[in-house]
Amino acid sequence: MTHARQQALEYAHQNRERFLDELKEFVAIPSISTSPEHAGDVERCAEWVANQLRSLGMDNVQIMPTGGHPVVYGEQLKAGKDAPTVLIYGHYDIQPVDPLELWTSDPFKGEVRSDYLYGRGSSDMKGQVIASLKAVESIVRTSGTGNLPVNVKWLIEGEEEIGSEHLGDFIKKHAKLLKADFCVNPDAGMINEDAPTITYGLRGLAYFEIRVYGPDHDLHSGLFGGTVHNPAQALAELIAGMHDKKGRITLPGFYKAVRKVGKAERADIARLPTTPKHFLKQTGAPALWGEPDYSPEERVSIRPTLEVNGLLSGFTGEGSKTVLPAWALAKISCRLVPDQDPETIHKCMVKYMKKHAPRTIKWEVKNLHNSGVAITEKDSVGVRAMAKGLEQVWGKRPLFKREGGSIGVVVQLQKHAGVESVLTGFGLPGDNMHSPNEKLHLPTWGRGIDAFINMFYNLGS
Ligand code: BES
Ligand code: MN
Repeated sequence: MTHARQQALEYAHQNRERFLDELKEFVAIPSISTSPEHAGDVERCAEWVANQLRSLGMDNVQIMPTGGHPVVYGEQLKAGKDAPTVLIYGHYDIQPVDPLELWTSDPFKGEVRSDYLYGRGSSDMKGQVIASLKAVESIVRTSGTGNLPVNVKWLIEGEEEIGSEHLGDFIKKHAKLLKADFCVNPDAGMINEDAPTITYGLRGLAYFEIRVYGPDHDLHSGLFGGTVHNPAQALAELIAGMHDKKGRITLPGFYKAVRKVGKAERADIARLPTTPKHFLKQTGAPALWGEPDYSPEERVSIRPTLEVNGLLSGFTGEGSKTVLPAWALAKISCRLVPDQDPETIHKCMVKYMKKHAPRTIKWEVKNLHNSGVAITEKDSVGVRAMAKGLEQVWGKRPLFKREGGSIGVVVQLQKHAGVESVLTGFGLPGDNMHSPNEKLHLPTWGRGIDAFINMFYNLGS
């Protein structure tokens, strides 16, 4: 092992507690991108990230406007023209925290309990952003600011959790600035703490809000129940019809573009160390559900889905109130696989509603946001450097898998800048991402910092 690499790794180990303190500071900023009332916190969070980049001696650090929340950019290109350039991606925005009463500790006061840091964004993905920042810090503090083995550029966005709606245009506009040999994106997590993972596929997403209207005001259910179609019931009937008995989605044309997955790839998936038991354990559900012809692992990676994210209608307070509500609302999203595209799925949803919505109600479908499907290269200079870096830390080769989640930037970079992503991460499936009590497994996070340091040196040599 080279002296420089060794020194950087030692620095990372010696400074782990301070890195954790800084992660807690980052977690303390409630940068919830979907809530207008948190816009100021989102700005403040971008500032915080920019300051980190400045303190690492990065050049050209900027908070750059988009049509929505800003992007934080920075670079250091002192490794020279012959060295590779790595674009490091992250998002500083987080999901809402509700239901707050189910949190054991304050979501914005990072609390360490046993091996975990609890807090919103600790795993998804402030911990991952800190891992990449601290890997670079460990190198520049031990070898000197100008001595990174590669050129680096940073793209840290603030709208990932709401579909990266404005990032596509931003990338198009700044394609030259963002040009790199590849992008490393640690937002994809790993299978379990002993299975370092490189992800080569992400599902896409089409997100809808469906509103159903009935009478022009809430009614006394005794006077009108039985003669007016209850919008909550009508919406429930529509939603119930969106799957058949085998768990298949019934929107007209929904499966038309789905690319067949070959036997070899399905055999690879079958070899992954996830079993139905893992899904039961991680979710606490009494039994699993889904298309019987596919394994649970396949159902969350290579198959498209339709999910009800939330429902709202009528009286849901304490006690009882007899009422026939005037309207009902559902938030519904579809996870998509190659070669489905969100705009077409929007049309499928509208077709379904036209075909099945009864005359007794009025309805509207809003397409809130979309995210494209991504498949990335399984073998490239970047993949090899990352795979080797993971192996150097875990002592075993990483597993390759397709993930069920979505990360908008991956397709946007492919499309608008011709930059491929290497997807990995140090979050675990049991981290409660998007749920109460989100947590980060600190030993795995520490290994992640080391893997990043190794990846940079692998690329440089
Ligand atoms: N980090 C996740 C995506 C993810 C999770 C990838 C687990 C692989 C494994 C990301 O922050 C996320 O949650 N994305 C959203 C995007 C959506 C709003 C377009 C998602 O997947 O719900
Ligand atoms: Mn997320």
